[in-house]
Amino acid sequence: MDVKARKERKYDRLLTRVYADKAECGRAAAGRAIEVLRDVLQQKGSANVVFSTGSSQFAFVEALSRRKDEFDWGRVNAFHLDEYVGISSDHPASFRLWLRQRVADRLCPGSFTYIEGDADDPDGECRRYEQVLRENPIDLAFVGIGENGHIAFNDPPVADFEDPRWVNIVELDEACRRQQVGEGWFPSIADVPRFAITMTVPAIMACRRIISVVPEKRKARAVKATLEEPVSTACPASILRTHQAAELYLDEESACFFATSMEHEPRCGPTQGIH
Ligand code: GLP
Repeated sequence: MDVKARKERKYDRLLTRVYADKAECGRAAAGRAIEVLRDVLQQKGSANVVFSTGSSQFAFVEALSRRKDEFDWGRVNAFHLDEYVGISSDHPASFRLWLRQRVADRLCPGSFTYIEGDADDPDGECRRYEQVLRENPIDLAFVGIGENGHIAFNDPPVADFEDPRWVNIVELDEACRRQQVGEGWFPSIADVPRFAITMTVPAIMACRRIISVVPEKRKARAVKATLEEPVSTACPASILRTHQAAELYLDEESACFFATSMEHEPRCGPTQGIH
């Protein structure tokens, strides 16, 4: 039932696997996630899991839902990476809505602690969520990578590998806001909130295991930078190469720009990428 990777290689510590297409990539990552989570439950009886959002995660969470009965999600406490400031939980672009519809209502985790993006006091909400994360060490985090190389909403201009905070308010960069319009979440860039609450890079790096699902051609440049450029905030996701237990799941499209080092030829033309 588990899908076999077409290619597999480590980039520093980051185990990278490439699958034929988005659906296979999602199925493979879901299979691996279930395997990891079973291990965690065996060791400690419950698991703390962070979910990411965005259209790149559709196939993955769909695959998890199809295999729902193979795992006791009631013993999972769920959390998330980020949320727009000032957006209500029923706004169509709200990550809480995304997570409620695609994760909470389908997998039925034992608990789901959301970032309340429209809290009256966003700084206080950051402090509250940071405390929750510090009290609930994360066993497994699903961390997508943005077109600009961001992890959560840590865009290149604001990402801080040494941030002492675990949750912070950040200003979204232009590429990130454009991406949200491109995915269809907002009608125009003017509608995309300027600020978001995000888990910081150190908070993500503190997660015990990371599974990063990054399919699609529009991510090809960010994937190349993640794997082949120096580890730096120019491409925040590059830090994943230094994590003790991170795995990257790609499809042939997102892998096409770093193809040479994985022994196949680049097959895609110029694309929008990190700037
Ligand atoms: C989004 C969200 C993250 C997500 C990542 C990839 O913008 N901030 O929660 O992990 O970036 O998502 P997408 O599918 O939108 O590229």
